[in-house]
Amino acid sequence: MGKFRINGNRLWDRLDELAQVGAIPGTLGSSRLALTKEDGQARDLVVSWMRQLEMEVSIDQIGNVIGLWHGKGTDRNLPPVMTGSHIDTVRSGGRFDGNLGVLAGLEIVQTVKEQKVLTEHPVAVSFFTGEEGARFAPDMLGSLVYVGGLDLQTALDTISVNGEKLSDELKSVGYSGTAPCPGITPKIFLELHIEQGPVLESEGIDIGAVESVQGISWTELTIEGQSNHAGTTPMTMRRDAGYVAGRISTFVRELTDQMGGAQVGTVGKVDLTPNLVNVVASKASMTVDLRNTSEAMLREAEDRLVTFCEEISRKESVKIASESLARFEPVEFNQDLVSQISTTAKNLGYTTRQMTSGAGHDAQMLARVCPAAMIFVPSKGGLSHNPAEYTSLEEISAGANVLLDIIVNAAGGCR
Ligand code: GLV
Ligand code: MN
Ligand code: MN
Repeated sequence: MGKFRINGNRLWDRLDELAQVGAIPGTLGSSRLALTKEDGQARDLVVSWMRQLEMEVSIDQIGNVIGLWHGKGTDRNLPPVMTGSHIDTVRSGGRFDGNLGVLAGLEIVQTVKEQKVLTEHPVAVSFFTGEEGARFAPDMLGSLVYVGGLDLQTALDTISVNGEKLSDELKSVGYSGTAPCPGITPKIFLELHIEQGPVLESEGIDIGAVESVQGISWTELTIEGQSNHAGTTPMTMRRDAGYVAGRISTFVRELTDQMGGAQVGTVGKVDLTPNLVNVVASKASMTVDLRNTSEAMLREAEDRLVTFCEEISRKESVKIASESLARFEPVEFNQDLVSQISTTAKNLGYTTRQMTSGAGHDAQMLARVCPAAMIFVPSKGGLSHNPAEYTSLEEISAGANVLLDIIVNAAGGCR
């Protein structure tokens, strides 16, 4: 096919324009929690680009957006070859997480159009609702509904961290669509994403061929004690929810030290009530994020957390209620697609390695219904979920070119 390449500058410019929506002043990053006004504006911008590219845009009942491209000779009855990701961010997000996968998809469609490549299968570029899970749990909510892993009504009834209902917020941004959930099953799903960790950069490797995603367990713990005076209440008479939250947080770190291996654990959110300097906290609400590549080890970590909570609740005379916010087993990607990523990367002159993903991704949900895999590009300093998240234009272009070749090949493209 000769030198058939994406336009890296055009992709870079779109990433920049999208990052201006909800931009965090003085940084490269963006703040676009799912279904906020900013997420709505970002959706409108990406949809406008899809329309400029003459893609057929459909919005489903959970707000997932699919842009479908078919050229002359495309058989509309064939399943689309799909790529995509998400454009929502955590509150303190970077400009690449998710956005790269969606905009690289648009860049591929534009390249295919310009180069007059004929594809047998339609090419679909999707962005899924609420991948981050930072406002509405679980993470990957839209793609989970897309593949039938979560019932639509349950998803629409989800309540945000601030008490808003997902269906109301979906309507307010204008993305309560009519396309059915579950959605059409693609021929394949391939997602380009930044690594969000340090491996590729530290090993000097251009392309990660992602073969698996580790299991994820999110739990919300609500600790009920009793508020009382900080100066007068003897230490032995306290029912201190703040202290217990601190002990659980320390336990999570010790658990990962003891288990070692792939076990990671994070307490990323703690809210105390009444949250005052001279009042013993009556209530603490906190989250625990546990992840492991092994399902058995992840279960062990969860069990040990439960045991610790039971012990400390007895000892400190507090009540601890536990609610699962997300629970996904480790996922294996399609080995044939993973090999294609390695081979394509090598053919294009890039260094590559197979690896596992520490973060959750929409591709792991699509893997339930079709062959799926992911392409990773390096993250500077391993930073992500941080406005300083950075991947260079060259690194992004390398990933998008690997994506281009595999998508066009899977779509039966020829010139
Ligand atoms: C989703 O982005 C996650 O891995 O937390
Ligand atoms: Mn992401
Ligand atoms: Mn993310």
